[in-house]
Amino acid sequence: MTDLKTGTREDGLEARLTLTGRRVVVFGGTSGMGAATVRAARDVGADVVSAGRRPLSERRQAEGVREMVVDSTDEEAVRTLFESIGELDHLVVTASPGQSGRLLDQDLAQARSFMDGKFFGSWTCARYAAPRLRARGSITFVTGGSVVRPRIGASMITSAFAAVEGLTRALAVELGPLRVNAIRPSYTDTEFWGFLSGEEREDFRRRVAETAPVRRAGAPEDVAQGAIFLMTNPQVTGTILEFTGGDTLVDNVN
Ligand SMILES: NC(=O)c1ccc[n+]([C@@H]2O[C@H](COP(=O)([O-])OP(=O)(O)OC[C@H]3O[C@@H](n4cnc5c(N)ncnc54)[C@H](OP(=O)(O)O)[C@@H]3O)[C@@H](O)[C@H]2O)c1
Repeated sequence: MTDLKTGTREDGLEARLTLTGRRVVVFGGTSGMGAATVRAARDVGADVVSAGRRPLSERRQAEGVREMVVDSTDEEAVRTLFESIGELDHLVVTASPGQSGRLLDQDLAQARSFMDGKFFGSWTCARYAAPRLRARGSITFVTGGSVVRPRIGASMITSAFAAVEGLTRALAVELGPLRVNAIRPSYTDTEFWGFLSGEEREDFRRRVAETAPVRRAGAPEDVAQGAIFLMTNPQVTGTILEFTGGDTLVDNVN
């Protein structure tokens, strides 16, 4: 029952966009969607831990955020990090294994690096966070639009994303009442595209804006807003939430 005067519910499960008093850990918080999520969670009151590999001296540190250096593929380091943090309410894993490539340009070790980086990295974070997640907490993974619209040269990252989406649904069932969801973005203007020259990146942005139904390229803040929604809405689990601007529905920049 909801008290109509105060908006509060007997079961305490309010779908309000606030994280006051909640602890949020973001793996991949040093850049892109993760960094935007760190800022957004802090701005709605969370106590935020931002984890990534790069040294503290190389980070643009968000005020009021605890920064930790850790590689999500290092099981021992991830276990130690969650032991040192203690209880938490929400885990977000954006960490990326890097750029994919064409099948014939890769050997098995390179192909496996995507499963290790994206899939097992996400798994490892969930594995060691789950026992410390407070009741009604959540896990949010990040995949990509190529799961439904594969792009040339992205077979392994696409496969790793698909595996993460399978893990999302399976863990939503296994870990309930904890909630487990994934965000599926398409082109989002972050450091992820830093390997392109300035001119190439501008051209890519322009082509995305011309072809995507929303006529714009995604911003990391779009994803961050979705992450806050997934953390705060008590009824959403096992969901893959798209932030593709409709890019997966049309012919695009492949
Ligand atoms: N941007 C896009 O257009 C787009 C589209 C579809 C899907 N995605 C997916 O969305 C996710 C987030 O992308 P983004 O654009 O935010 O990328 P980004 O700006 O490159 O950020 C990636 C983050 O992951 C961290 N990271 C990478 N490997 C890590 C590891 N082993 N352990 C811990 N942290 C690690 C990086 O920090 P450190 O360098 O400090 O480790 C960085 O903070 C990625 O999985 C990407 O594949 C992106």
